[in-house]
Amino acid sequence: MQVHKYDVVIVGAGGAGMRAAIESGQRAHTAVLTKLYPTRSHTGAAQGGMCAALANVEEDNWEWHTFDTVKGGDYLVDQDAAEVMAKEAIDAVLDLEKMGLPFNRTPEGKIDQRRFGGHTRDHGKAPVRRACYAADRTGHMILQTLYQNCVKHNVEFYNEYYVLDLLMVEEDAVREDGTPYKQKRAAGVVSYDLASGEIHVFQAKSIVFASGGVGKVFKTTSNAHTLTGDGMGIAFRRGLPLEDMEFVQFHPTGLAGLGILLSEAARGEGGILRNADGERFMERYAPTIKDLAPRDIVARSMALEVREGRGCGPNKDYVLLDLTHLEPAHIDAKLPDITEFARTYLGVEPYTEPVPVFPTAHYAMGGIPTNIKGEVLQDNDTVVPGLYAAGEVACVSVHGSNRLGTNSLLDINVFGKRSGIYAAEYAKTTDFVELPENAEAYTIDMIETVRTADGTERVAQIRKELQDTMDANVQVFRDERSLTEALNVIASLRERYKNISVQDKGKRFNLDLLEAVELGFLLDMAQVMTVAALHRKESRGGHFREDFPERDDENFMLHSMSYLDPEAVTDQTAGIRMDTKPVVFTRYEPMVRKY
Ligand code: FUM
Repeated sequence: MQVHKYDVVIVGAGGAGMRAAIESGQRAHTAVLTKLYPTRSHTGAAQGGMCAALANVEEDNWEWHTFDTVKGGDYLVDQDAAEVMAKEAIDAVLDLEKMGLPFNRTPEGKIDQRRFGGHTRDHGKAPVRRACYAADRTGHMILQTLYQNCVKHNVEFYNEYYVLDLLMVEEDAVREDGTPYKQKRAAGVVSYDLASGEIHVFQAKSIVFASGGVGKVFKTTSNAHTLTGDGMGIAFRRGLPLEDMEFVQFHPTGLAGLGILLSEAARGEGGILRNADGERFMERYAPTIKDLAPRDIVARSMALEVREGRGCGPNKDYVLLDLTHLEPAHIDAKLPDITEFARTYLGVEPYTEPVPVFPTAHYAMGGIPTNIKGEVLQDNDTVVPGLYAAGEVACVSVHGSNRLGTNSLLDINVFGKRSGIYAAEYAKTTDFVELPENAEAYTIDMIETVRTADGTERVAQIRKELQDTMDANVQVFRDERSLTEALNVIASLRERYKNISVQDKGKRFNLDLLEAVELGFLLDMAQVMTVAALHRKESRGGHFREDFPERDDENFMLHSMSYLDPEAVTDQTAGIRMDTKPVVFTRYEPMVRKY
């Protein structure tokens, strides 16, 4: 076991982690720990753009952007955070431009902008061109640019170091009203070096979690294999809450049957969704902005078309994305990658044939609760000193119950930068916290239990059954029956997980072990998502309860907070205590969403 000491340790080398590292690395001794190589992080799969009200091609301003974000999130957005994000968006794009990102340009040489779902001019009057982009590989370009700048600033990377535990100490503290409480304080993390199988403890004054999402709980997903909710799971197991975990975004246009992302930019550039009758059905569901309605609305509309028998193909189980009216030269210039995906994976030529698509699990709106500095909260308002989170692992909450397209690349840049700055500044003001005794024991025990597992159950089979049940029961439409069914299946899979077999007993690059550990996080997070979904007895944004089809502001205009609690043992809680947190309002009163 080796111990390292850094002022700031960042967990994850996607966009949020590297944006944080660029700031922190210039201010404090900083290390980035990543399960992958940085340039393989999932930010690289983000396609269509990063929005900011630059007004380069049409009139726009940050206030309209804030409004769209709040309305798109079905009013569950914390409006102070959305204001910060929309205001700082402009500098976030310009920062990337200065770092060297090759954005597409207008003929006059300005950064070009394109349309995306839910982004409108003057509070919903018409679509606006707000997304800055680099063809349909914007995330890839951001990732490369950030990595190059981390190298420039001598950020130290520990590649293929899989963080498995968060070390915190508890101190006696007193609230303003005089009540005593136990305050958690960050002390370090424990990681597993995939190459050697050795355990490394990192003591740090500040820790930034930026480890991404949890899409792999679903079978049909745009997410990479590595997105197994590790960061959320680590925080949850250590007693921190998770916020709004019931809200999962299903991106409308996954390649049918595969889930691979076909960017919303395809509709931004003029693509049209059609059902089996050739009808542009979004005209019925969102008459003003049609195919560019927010994703929750488009995904539900597509699923309804299929359910009502207007789906396409032999099983009538998908709809079509029609690009055939666009000039091939335009498609090649603006959408080169995704059209190649359609050719490669479905054998469809988008110049002449519509592409089969269906919603795919894409993004977790919930995560580790933070404030607008990226500071992690241990309850509704108590900060954990020294602990920060940013990006998809976090819930700040700028996306509420449904994220607008291109707000995620923005989120990672704005809140990645903020958390990097605040983490480094905090580190300058404090000493190292003494590590808890036997800091590595919990992780060694976890790893050794898995490595020596000699049961009869296969990890891949349990994962498959988990993903199948999540697709069947916790997808675009949910109800009490389906959620209870999912919870029962997850409970039985958790039992079977205790009896897994890991066949590779070795230490070096033991991917058998890695997948077994990841499955543990997936099971935990699927359970949290399902319990939170059962408790939200209303429909809002990405969470649609068929048994409670209306939004219920009177009872549910609240964030949900899930805590690990072994004493919460009813058949609807499964060891998870549910609580609520008020939504922050600044200027927008909730209205019925119409598009
Ligand atoms: O459709 C897309 O290009 C995805 C963008 C996003 O999730 O923000």
